Amino acid sequence: MLQGKKIILGISGSIAAYKSAFLTRLLIKAGAEVQVLMTPSAQDFITPLTLSTLSKRPVYSEVSSETGWNNHVELGLWADAMLIAPVTATTLAKLANGLCDNILVAAYLSARCPVFFAPAMDLDMWHHPATRHNVERLISYGNQLIPVGVGELASGLSGEGRMAEPEDIVAYLERFFAQKQDLAGKKILLTAGPTYEPIDPVRFIGNRSSGKMGIALADAAARRGAEVTLILGPSKLTPQEKAVKLIKVETAQEMHDAAVQLFPQMNAAILAAAVADYRPKTVATEKIKKKGEELQLDLIKNPDIAADLGKMKQAGQLLIGFALETNDEESNAQGKLEKKNFDCIVLNSLRDAGAGFNHDTNKISILFRNNKKRDFELKSKNAVAEDILQAMIDLFNV
Ligand code: PMT
Repeated sequence: MLQGKKIILGISGSIAAYKSAFLTRLLIKAGAEVQVLMTPSAQDFITPLTLSTLSKRPVYSEVSSETGWNNHVELGLWADAMLIAPVTATTLAKLANGLCDNILVAAYLSARCPVFFAPAMDLDMWHHPATRHNVERLISYGNQLIPVGVGELASGLSGEGRMAEPEDIVAYLERFFAQKQDLAGKKILLTAGPTYEPIDPVRFIGNRSSGKMGIALADAAARRGAEVTLILGPSKLTPQEKAVKLIKVETAQEMHDAAVQLFPQMNAAILAAAVADYRPKTVATEKIKKKGEELQLDLIKNPDIAADLGKMKQAGQLLIGFALETNDEESNAQGKLEKKNFDCIVLNSLRDAGAGFNHDTNKISILFRNNKKRDFELKSKNAVAEDILQAMIDLFNV
């Protein structure tokens, strides 16, 4: 499946570097040409000789060596994909900041191909805000995170931070290169993220949505060939796929106006946004000063984007909603499916660990109008997005 693909494999200095030998072998077996680049500290964990023997090419670890200048610009242009596995916290920080002090980072900065990175580090390092920030920056540059595994770590701790297994990394690349264009010709509208409803110039009513679920859907739909427009509430994240048309909004009213205007030209809309149902009746022009023991805020109803699109929906158009529930999950979701005229609804519950707001994972069920239901296990939001798109494609085909 990777036949003829030219892959730069960047290795940085983690104990997980021992897996790079298996990874190289699997890539070669899948038909890829592999050029290994190592950071100086990666060589403390695995020798260049092992990797050059397996990859059948010289391994580069310096920009210049006794044999001459190793041209990172040429390498960056040669590759169909760059895979950095394992990527340590240090290399992650260098990539995020363009700190170009080794050949791996130099090739990364010169690469015009898709870049995949598979982190490996200890549990607490993985959860540190600095690491989270660097991961998010790489994602915002359009690079693809291959999620870390959960389990025993070299430190003796147990939790998130293990590098994904070589087989899973190769499968990830194979899926990328085998991407079906089964949404070519379809126009898909997405809503994602929270809405902020202003109270005064400094305060707002918001919620904990990060935008990850809707952005994963937008990226996945674009990769499958759809023309995607994403209406995104205030989120720090942005789609990786350059083809996604992005409309940034703040409030439910702004999201509503953009969605209502665009929906008639669309084949489908998927509504993953967490929209505030109410907003302050009046917005103070000056910062509200602290006065008494209590403060009364009058709220009025926001437009229901989903319900309005449900009324506008024409034959041949699909409308897919989400339901975020904390109790009576299925009956609440079923109620929303009917009331908002959805074709199907994606239920996620805050009672499921790893599901809902802000996680990189989600656990969903999809409820259909014919009372059928499909349950899915906990997966990365990217994988969940593929499941939802497959359900949508199946509905287009009935
Ligand atoms: O962004 P993440 O951090 O990745 O989190 C993802 C998510 C939890 C936000 C997402 O998976 C999700 O569940 N989104 C819907 C959240 C929600 O507000 O659900 P709801 O049950 O309140 O709304 C039902 C449906 O109506 C949703 O499709 C919602 O987008 C839509 N709606 C709701 C209110 C409103 N005024 N307008 C709407 O369009």
